[in-house]
Amino acid sequence: METGDPPEVPAGEARGGPAAARAAEERFRTLVAALPDAVAITDLEGRVEFASPLAIRLLGLSGPGEAVGRSALEFIAPEDRARAQDNLRKTAAEGQVREVQYNFLKRNGAMFPGELSAVLVRDAGGQPASFIAIIRDITERLEAEDRLRRFGAQHAGILEAIPVAVGVSIEEGRNVYTNLAMQGIFGYTAAEALAVPIASHYVNPEDRIRMLADLARDGSIRDREVGLRHRDGTALTALLNVDIVEWNGAPARMASLRDVTEAKLTEGRLREQADQLRLLTDRLAAVAEAERAEFARMLHDAMGQNLTGLSFQLHALLGGPRPATDPGVRERLLECLSMVSDMADASRELGDNLRPSVLDDYGLDAAVRAWGDRFTARTGIALRHRTAEVFGLRLAREAEIALFRIVQEALANAARHAKATEIVVSMDGSPEVFRLEVADNGAGFDLAAPQAEGGRGAMGIPIMQRRAESVRGSFRIESRPGLGTSVIVEVPR
Ligand SMILES: Nc1ncnc2c1ncn2[C@@H]1O[C@H](COP(=O)(O)OP(=O)(O)OP(=O)(O)O)[C@@H](O)[C@H]1O
Ligand SMILES: [Mg+2]
Repeated sequence: METGDPPEVPAGEARGGPAAARAAEERFRTLVAALPDAVAITDLEGRVEFASPLAIRLLGLSGPGEAVGRSALEFIAPEDRARAQDNLRKTAAEGQVREVQYNFLKRNGAMFPGELSAVLVRDAGGQPASFIAIIRDITERLEAEDRLRRFGAQHAGILEAIPVAVGVSIEEGRNVYTNLAMQGIFGYTAAEALAVPIASHYVNPEDRIRMLADLARDGSIRDREVGLRHRDGTALTALLNVDIVEWNGAPARMASLRDVTEAKLTEGRLREQADQLRLLTDRLAAVAEAERAEFARMLHDAMGQNLTGLSFQLHALLGGPRPATDPGVRERLLECLSMVSDMADASRELGDNLRPSVLDDYGLDAAVRAWGDRFTARTGIALRHRTAEVFGLRLAREAEIALFRIVQEALANAARHAKATEIVVSMDGSPEVFRLEVADNGAGFDLAAPQAEGGRGAMGIPIMQRRAESVRGSFRIESRPGLGTSVIVEVPR
């Protein structure tokens, strides 16, 4: 039975009969006993006519006798009595009051907070007859609410203190909460931060639309880089995290921001510096290469030609129309000739070391073979060349020089570090990509282990790498201890 239902009259019993009255009263008692709230009935002046057992217990009375006949106002704290009096009149006028709060007074003087709802009851003739009041002890509820408030305040305190910017926003795109750090990032006061539409924080408002779509799809946003605008217009870069949270019983978005503007700037500057350093290295390498070529040309032109002339003259002195006859002079002339020939060899070798003319004249394959012969003569390490048939095209000059220098360093490493007995130099690839590999059968090494020798930084490998990159090529080394080493370079043709 609903608490609001009027007592039912059992079928078969005459209305108004004493049996019916007893039955109705019995039902009323059962109903009152079943209610979780205290019930009191008063007359129109507020004098208590009935108090339920729960009401008696709440007020700390020993029985109904201590309540019946007294004014209900006596059970309400003095400071609330005027209001209670008003509400009594209001109930009489409007038929009811709902959930008004008073402090109630127990017999021993203690107080407890309660919530009271009352209705006006009319008699059979429709005249106001009495009030029924329902009273609920709300001590626990208020305590729980208070705990929640304190808990909330503590959380708010933590949120204010943390250095991460936090904001909570609702559907219409305005913040309903921002912490100090969030206000700080944008330079707004707390009130302004709530008033300004969130979209206006974005440098590109489409970023926000995309973010919201992703949030709807994924349920959260993690470390997304966004471009935002400070109140004064300056741009800033932030990492954004967003989650759906409950805010005052409704779903809301909780966003946190970390300002990474400085870090991004530093990162950018570092990248720029690295780029500049690379440009500088490339430029230095090009300058060194040009100077070597120039020096090689001078050696050839100035030294080589004069030595040829000198040799010619010496030959003329030995075998011309009037040859020297003195055996002592002839011996010295022959010695001079042999020295001139040695100097010519040395100058050619020096020139070739600086810049093999065969590289410029006949290309990489020829230059590598010529260099390889001298390498074998010097080191005793056998060299095999595998040049694929398809190879035949010359590469760009810069690429040929870079690849030749890489071969020189790879051969030098194989001789110095690998104790190799054989090295295979392969050139092949496709019409688009030229591929060079220098593979030795030596000791190999652990690529992961630091390679510096005797405290100085080893530069051979990084320079090979850089040379390959400077001609848009790729560079890699394959090596395993005991299994030899391969240096592999690919450059676009
Ligand atoms: N073919 C190889 N076989 C075995 N170890 C090698 C080989 N090539 C390189 N290494 C190892 O890698 C290290 C680094 O080589 P890298 O050419 O960079 O420097 P380096 O030869 O020591 O000095 P440099 O700067 O004069 O070239 C070498 O010290 C060596 O330990
Ligand atoms: Mg080296």
